[in-house]
Amino acid sequence: MKKKIAIFISGRGSNMKAIVEQCRNGILKNLVDVEVVFANKEDAAGLDYARSMGIRTKWISSKGLKRSVFDQKVIDFLDGFTIDYIILAGYMRVLSGIFVNAFSGKIINIHPADTFKHQGLHAYEWAFNNNLQETKITVHYVDEGMDTGAVISQHIVDLKGVQTLKEVEERGLKVEHKFYSEIIRMLILNETN
Ligand code: GAR
Repeated sequence: MKKKIAIFISGRGSNMKAIVEQCRNGILKNLVDVEVVFANKEDAAGLDYARSMGIRTKWISSKGLKRSVFDQKVIDFLDGFTIDYIILAGYMRVLSGIFVNAFSGKIINIHPADTFKHQGLHAYEWAFNNNLQETKITVHYVDEGMDTGAVISQHIVDLKGVQTLKEVEERGLKVEHKFYSEIIRMLILNETN
């Protein structure tokens, strides 16, 4: 039985796009259906891509709303679906306890750094400014903290010889786009075997 996922984004959505491609023609084919792409902003650019692929989209503005009030609206929306995993892909909001408890153990995030060393925004800038020779991409379960949930897996990004922040981002995103789907596949196969 295929697993149903909701992908949450806040912007560009390149990780979401990579996952959708793997669901259509790659390692997630016959394993995963993307039920909905959700954004906390109307202008999240990734929504256009999802719509163009015929995927249901939904946005609810989080602007000015208390965290728990916004999260309850999202929970109410998802009530109409059966969702096995919530995949955060550049979703730039810390989740409240109300949301984490509603989907306990089912929320996954990708962070472009070692979450033991760096949390929050600008992880590639952090790696570049500190002249790191390598950084790590982390896929982890999500709790109420900012990038503090239990680590599922990490993947090294070789940064030797990089000259610009753009190069750091390019090398990192290349890893993210492959790694995230691999881990989603591993989780699902572990669960079903
Ligand atoms: C990605 O690099 C993702 O790992 C990062 O935001 C970017 C979103 O890009 N997430 C975090 O920093 C979470 N703390 P995308 O919208 O193109 O996938």
